[in-house]
Amino acid sequence: MKIDVLLGLQWGDEGKGKGVDLLTPQYDVVTRFQGGPNAGHSLEFNGKKHVLHLVPSGIFHDSINLVGNGVVLDPVKFDIELQGLQAMGIDPFKKILLSRKAHLILPSHRVLDAAIEHAKGKEKIGSTLRGIGPTYRDKVGRDGLRIGDIETIDFKEKYNKLKAKHQLLLKQYNFEYDLAKDEEEWFEAIEVLKKFEFVNSEYRIEQYFREGKKILAEGAQGSLLDIDFGSYPFVTSSSTTIGGACTGMGIAPQKIGKIIGIAKAYCTRVGSGPFPTELHNAEGQQLRDKGAEYGSTTGRPRRCGWLDLVALKYVVMLNGVTEIILTKSDVLDEFETIKVCTAYEINGEETLEIPFDINAPINPVYTELKGWNTQIKDIRKPEELPAAFIEYVKFIEHHIEVPVSIVSVGPDREATIHM
Ligand code: GDP
Ligand code: IMO
Ligand code: MG
Repeated sequence: MKIDVLLGLQWGDEGKGKGVDLLTPQYDVVTRFQGGPNAGHSLEFNGKKHVLHLVPSGIFHDSINLVGNGVVLDPVKFDIELQGLQAMGIDPFKKILLSRKAHLILPSHRVLDAAIEHAKGKEKIGSTLRGIGPTYRDKVGRDGLRIGDIETIDFKEKYNKLKAKHQLLLKQYNFEYDLAKDEEEWFEAIEVLKKFEFVNSEYRIEQYFREGKKILAEGAQGSLLDIDFGSYPFVTSSSTTIGGACTGMGIAPQKIGKIIGIAKAYCTRVGSGPFPTELHNAEGQQLRDKGAEYGSTTGRPRRCGWLDLVALKYVVMLNGVTEIILTKSDVLDEFETIKVCTAYEINGEETLEIPFDINAPINPVYTELKGWNTQIKDIRKPEELPAAFIEYVKFIEHHIEVPVSIVSVGPDREATIHM
């Protein structure tokens, strides 16, 4: 049975948490393959909302949940999530496996993230300040500390060595910090981590694969935040596109089956960087209000704008997306007309390509579609959807040449239409 991958196609927050939770009953194993506690994956059932940051979104079902080698894990943030799960009667120690090769976020990584962002001033990335960039930097720089190191006798020495490097770096920044309390918490959380089974996850995944277990890989962030293909430098520090699934789990590309892309019916972005269809007007505010567009991790208001098909087509190409889950369509219920960007105009020329220059003055070229002007949140069957909504979906499918397989019309598991 091939491994299916679900990943975000925009700037994150497309509804991956809901998507994975919804699909998990069809799978035996759910694995996260990149990112860290910068992610905030929400899902809702029985009238209650849950936000996960490091725990795979299959946790509320019977699946095995694996934190893959491509993830960067902050033991303290992880422990907070575990406590929430335990309060619900879930035993995380039985249901979660940790890859030995996943890198650890140290308290000093978080401080570095803050110091680097502070130093950038107006040019800041708008990072989630969870230490993501500095941790991946140490990974690539071959200085990182991994979960498997916890089992070695000189773990504390390795920790101190990396911390000392960070302290040296921090001298360059005029930045106040005090690590003492955070370090105490961190080492307490390391003791909690020791209660989990650490696995050589590439072998474990291979074993599951050979046993015929069904595996779903869960991406974090979105393709437009990819370290290579996003609007660099306003990106995250991992490969959020399909290659990240292979390297973040140790699986060969031919083992991948479905590549399920998830996209909102409009666009949002948190943090800095280009956003061609961003709305700075009442319509933008309407999207923010109706869509409750405030970050699941940082609470920051999300920037909102119309659907960008130039960008969507780009990431469909990059990922080889085989089907789309379209979320938050209900947020567009009250718009008389809905705009969709189908081309960019740059210096008077129309193009279907995203330019290299992130400062290029992009004028989105819009097609206006009729709104459906009716509530769709309670609809569960495709034949009950309003004609104008079907037209909207068809328009998207036609442009990106990929079918929309699921339409989400609300945060709850149940608010879902299989097309
Ligand atoms: P993720 O990071 O991709 O998992 O997405 P987030 O959880 O950060 O943000 C998506 C938000 O939209 C969450 O608050 C979800 O509960 C909510 N949501 C998901 N799907 C829908 C939908 O179809 N309609 C509405 N109104 N909200 C949704
Ligand atoms: P999920 O998985 C939305 C954004 C940050 C910032 C940039 C770099 O919930 O979709 P980082 O902390 O990674 O160094 O920040 O990336 N960002 C996200 N935006 N959803 C996310 O995750 C994000 N994770 C990072 O806002 O612009
Ligand atoms: Mg999110």
